[in-house]
Amino acid sequence: MSGNKIVVYKEPGVVEVEDHDVPTLEIPPEVAKATGMSRKADHGVILRTVSTNICGSDQHMVRGRTTAPPGQTLGHEITGEIVEKGSDVQFLDVGDICTVPFNIACGRCRNCREGHTGVCLNVNPGRAGSAYGYVDMGGWEGGQAQYVLVPFADFNLIKFPSREQALAKILDLTMLSDIFPTGYHGAYTAGVTTGSTVYVAGAGPVGLAAAYSAQLLGAAVVIVGDLNADRLAQARSFGCETVDVSQDATLEDQVAEILGINEVDCAVDAVGFEATGHGAGAGEAPAAVLNSIMSITRAAGRLGIPGLYVTGDPGAPDDDAKEGTLKVRLGLGWAKSHSFTTGQCPVLRYNRGLMMSILHDKAHIADAVNATVIPLDEAPQGYRDFDQGAAKKYVLDPNGLIPKAA
Ligand SMILES: NC(=O)c1ccc[n+]([C@@H]2O[C@H](COP(=O)([O-])OP(=O)(O)OC[C@H]3O[C@@H](n4cnc5c(N)ncnc54)[C@H](O)[C@@H]3O)[C@@H](O)[C@H]2O)c1
Ligand SMILES: [Zn+2]
Ligand SMILES: [Zn+2]
Repeated sequence: MSGNKIVVYKEPGVVEVEDHDVPTLEIPPEVAKATGMSRKADHGVILRTVSTNICGSDQHMVRGRTTAPPGQTLGHEITGEIVEKGSDVQFLDVGDICTVPFNIACGRCRNCREGHTGVCLNVNPGRAGSAYGYVDMGGWEGGQAQYVLVPFADFNLIKFPSREQALAKILDLTMLSDIFPTGYHGAYTAGVTTGSTVYVAGAGPVGLAAAYSAQLLGAAVVIVGDLNADRLAQARSFGCETVDVSQDATLEDQVAEILGINEVDCAVDAVGFEATGHGAGAGEAPAAVLNSIMSITRAAGRLGIPGLYVTGDPGAPDDDAKEGTLKVRLGLGWAKSHSFTTGQCPVLRYNRGLMMSILHDKAHIADAVNATVIPLDEAPQGYRDFDQGAAKKYVLDPNGLIPKAA
């Protein structure tokens, strides 16, 4: 049965919208086989997607920089309305509009029970941790689609208190599925608090969300670095200082211009392994940001590293990087007693609090990241524009449910 339009990766640089079957309450066969779980997902729901966003993490696959096969369905940033629920879903109902953490988590394993929902042990045969529509994540269908299955719904979903309010604030609330919690996690694990000075590498949506979160956490100064002038202007639009890492002046010198000293209290890597080196005309340098945040952060400081690093990169600049081995100057970080946090953001740790900040008008994340709505059919163009560095966070509207005024 067709009836589910969905975004699919075809080959490097190409995504298409295809018509797939509407999902049923069944988990991927490989997950059932490896774990012994029943295929029938009585614990799951089918959502009609209200909004679903394009992410820099999708771009790694679409640029051919992962082992994602052609045919990989895409989309892990999902907000939707329940249209069907399994017999064991106790606390949610058809008609509820819910935010979906991009991490798929069982709620029952040791890691989930300890709050580490980014590395659930039961939903991906290949490794700990899973997500919708992502390579090496267990084969769960993507949510850049009209419909999607969400397993373990009582655990994973948060229902918005009011349908009207949810639709009115959908462009802020849609960021709860990933980038707002992820940016917040970056800032929080970097130790940002009242009066901190902060450097955020990357002015893409995650970097902007980290910078905005650093402001929410009370930072005195937030400095955002990138080589994309439009994205740096976006960071300045909500009160950040900026540095252009493509300039010949070093990062330390540019930070000293702003702060009077060449170091910050806290730093966030919101770039990841596809980093460009610093200085005019620099090429790709996968460890550039890791090394620069160690050199710019004070002794005893902390580093938040939401930027993604992979174990397999067919397009890497050298053989070591092809398997995720990077030239990181750990001696410097050791000498400065740095501590750092990597990995998938455990979204459930932060999304309820950030939802409350949005619902009570304390957080306006959609403006900070320049949320821009496009129809699902225009996803291929959205991917191309985002890849070109548009200073926008693209929000897909697969079912025409996003109100025009939102
Ligand atoms: N940990 C998580 O849970 C999680 C969740 C979402 C996204 N991510 C990752 O976060 C990263 C950022 O996501 P995004 O959507 O903002 O991606 P993006 O590609 O839109 O943004 C990355 C930005 O980094 C800039 N950049 C490149 N080299 C740089 C350098 N040396 N210094 C400063 N800026 C530099 C680019 O110009 C670009 O603007 C990606 O790696 C993504 O996969 C991780
Ligand atoms: Zn994402
Ligand atoms: Zn689990």
